[in-house]
Amino acid sequence: MPDKQKTFGGVTPVGTNSKGQRLRPHPLLDACEHQIDREALQALAGKSILNPRQFDRRSVVAIAQLSALLESQNVEMDKPLDGKIAITAFFEASTRTRLSFESAVLRLDGKVLSVPDGQVTGIAKGESLADIGEMFNTYGDVVIMRHPDTDCIDQIQRNLQRPLINAGNGSGHHPTQALIDWYALLKWRPELCRPNCPEDRQVHLGVIGTPGSMRAVKSFVRLALMFPGAVKKITLISELADPVGLDLTEPIEESPIPIEIINDVREVLPELDVVYVNSIAFLGDSYRNLDSRYKLEKGSNLKPDAVILHPLARNDELGETLDHTDHNLYFAQAAGAVFVRQALLTCVLDRLDRISGIPRN
Ligand code: CP
Repeated sequence: MPDKQKTFGGVTPVGTNSKGQRLRPHPLLDACEHQIDREALQALAGKSILNPRQFDRRSVVAIAQLSALLESQNVEMDKPLDGKIAITAFFEASTRTRLSFESAVLRLDGKVLSVPDGQVTGIAKGESLADIGEMFNTYGDVVIMRHPDTDCIDQIQRNLQRPLINAGNGSGHHPTQALIDWYALLKWRPELCRPNCPEDRQVHLGVIGTPGSMRAVKSFVRLALMFPGAVKKITLISELADPVGLDLTEPIEESPIPIEIINDVREVLPELDVVYVNSIAFLGDSYRNLDSRYKLEKGSNLKPDAVILHPLARNDELGETLDHTDHNLYFAQAAGAVFVRQALLTCVLDRLDRISGIPRN
């Protein structure tokens, strides 16, 4: 559960939410004996971040380690992104993803070119994403794109030669969100980063949502399948009879983690250690609410120490009555976004050497 964080002289430490909760990075750093897997991080230099399948348990933990280091010390003085320009190209609405990416860049002394709405680009006049990608080659050093079309990655990559970070593509994936989700879980229970977490610290994950049409849920589950020594069971709770979708079918079949699919959360809620909730689904050509008949509230039959994750934005599925409780990991999850995105940008832009305090191993 998040710590209650005191304020000093009226100043609230960065990462503390309005309820006075903060998920501190130090226990995760202690659990990793302050080691950072530099090799796993250096492998990201110059790479695009498109799909969670490009990661494995080792790289997810390495990104969480670096995020924790960035969260625990004042790296702004290192100016690691000095001279770099990030283009945030958002062709679909966002609160957290665009602004936390931009905050991450600016806090590390990089610069941002922001497209907050595709309609301010030549798209409004019929321009193709492929042509926009060609222009981005000279305008920036990395492109962070969100788009409602699942195949937008292929379109822009026809001409784009800069690293591309997928910030959500239709019903496809949201890989950086999944890394943020796992950063929150690893801070909450650092033993989960071990290949063989003690049995009594392993978690039963409940996922209220439809991975096949919810990109954040899909990416979260894809990473969860990489942690068989930490996740003892996954229960998917969905309104749909077949919620999994094509992308996850094979990884689920190959994973040693037992997975069950049910359609009534009441059957399993008291057994869950972690409840991941979302309701915004991409169906056909627009976003709709699915699975929102499962409303979690303060009075829901949760385990006393269960935590709730939600990528946000929320609708009716997650009551504000939970915000003041220790079940609320979702605000701390969102607060960690800046540090995970700083970690990714530092690696992709090959500026790891500029961060002081990374042990050489
Ligand atoms: N979690 C997330 O993707 O939020 P936004 O839609 O606000 O970016």
